[in-house]
Amino acid sequence: MALMPQPSIRNELRFILNGEDVSLRDVAPDDTLLDFLRLSRALKGTKEGCAEGDCGACTVLVGRLHGGRLVYESVNACIRFLGSLDATHVVTVEHLAGSEGRLHPVQQAMVDFHGSQCGFCTPGFVMSLYGLWMRSSDPSDAEIEQALQGNLCRCTGYEAIVRAARAIATYGKAANDPLLAERQSIMERLAALRDGARVEIGTGRGRLIVPADVDDFARLREELPEATVVAGSTDVGLWVTKHMRDIAPVIFIGSLDGLKTVTEADGVLTIGAGVTYTEAFGLLAQRIPPLGALVSRIGGEQVRNMGTIGGNIANGSPIGDTPPPLIALGARLTLRKGGERRTIPLEDFFIAYGKQDSRPGEFVEAVHVPVPAPDRKFAVYKVTKRRDEDITATLGAFLLTLEGGTVQDIRIAYGGMAATPKRAFAVEKALIGRPWTEETVQAAMEKYAEDFTPLTDMRATADYRALAARNLLLRFHAETTGTASPLQVTRDRAA
Ligand code: FES
Ligand code: FES
Repeated sequence: MALMPQPSIRNELRFILNGEDVSLRDVAPDDTLLDFLRLSRALKGTKEGCAEGDCGACTVLVGRLHGGRLVYESVNACIRFLGSLDATHVVTVEHLAGSEGRLHPVQQAMVDFHGSQCGFCTPGFVMSLYGLWMRSSDPSDAEIEQALQGNLCRCTGYEAIVRAARAIATYGKAANDPLLAERQSIMERLAALRDGARVEIGTGRGRLIVPADVDDFARLREELPEATVVAGSTDVGLWVTKHMRDIAPVIFIGSLDGLKTVTEADGVLTIGAGVTYTEAFGLLAQRIPPLGALVSRIGGEQVRNMGTIGGNIANGSPIGDTPPPLIALGARLTLRKGGERRTIPLEDFFIAYGKQDSRPGEFVEAVHVPVPAPDRKFAVYKVTKRRDEDITATLGAFLLTLEGGTVQDIRIAYGGMAATPKRAFAVEKALIGRPWTEETVQAAMEKYAEDFTPLTDMRATADYRALAARNLLLRFHAETTGTASPLQVTRDRAA
């Protein structure tokens, strides 16, 4: 396939910061938005807590045109690179003040309901609640909890903050909001910034590039196979802030519309590599509910607004949350190099720790996920130390086909149990062709040691992982048969 001719090149990054137009010609590939706000613009309302996307102290909103609409999303400025912000509107807490310094309704509610003590976390909470209020002016408790998953407060306690969030609807209508008042003009200004050019700043190892479109990215990927490709930066951001790694040169692909499509045809969902968890959530929750539930437990809302399923796959992490369920579902992956594409089973992509089936100049373009037929049973279980915003200790995914009570087929895949996301072939073999009974399951549980030799690390011991992984199969059996819960089974046996 022939690629489109090379686009024009602009050596300047342009975006809107609160009300101001920003043009930058001197940007390092690893400059973060948080450093820019605090050090270059003295916008110190945005705080730095963890510098790894976990605490939400650095929460700001980023607005962008998406499908003809202006969409604002909360993001973690600490791991968001400046280079990814071309043609966006960055909104910090300083932009919320009304005329004569009047507090924004969200801020006033936090004051009135005593939602702040030391105040360090407060701007981040305010921005997350502001993002929520823009979507839903009278939010439910579930929506509030979801919006605050990515914000930590160590001294006030969440009850006061949640009370403030519940009361927001009584503080004023969204129509009076400053962002709404300027929305039309921001849309026009953002549209004017989208000139179809490639953004290129710096040279050699200091080079930062935002491709004009996917064809341009394909060309650049071949020209610069050593470049770091950044979609949502929820992983790569930490390479910089925690590991001080040199990631230059960098190609930013998070804004490429051509990688942001989600379609369904013949029972298969095709998710572009640039689709964020938030963008994929609605369709996944509707078509494959267990996958939707899993996505809602990945990071906090800010992370889900940035992170992509494509990135989760491409990075090849053994504890990535989405590969095991996608492998269990029989997903396939399209890789592209220049104008050529190949599509492989997702499970074949993961070769060894840090090694994926990816050739120089190639990139992940899309993942194709079959929707399980109604008579198949699918589940995914994520085991973590706390429910929300935690990294997986072990994660198991199961897709079962029964015929007259006998296991006709089962696909089982785990994360956190090996150097890559991996199928449990020995366990599967011990189940296929046998009656789907607890006896069969108990016998198959003995086979886990043939499939996995888990490690001990800060998240869990090897023994814990091995036991939890086995028990997930028992849980799957209990849930799919409507029999006693595993806990009950254990108790009965002890009695
Ligand atoms: Fe903690 Fe950014 S500083 S999430
Ligand atoms: Fe102190 Fe939240 S008010 S950390």
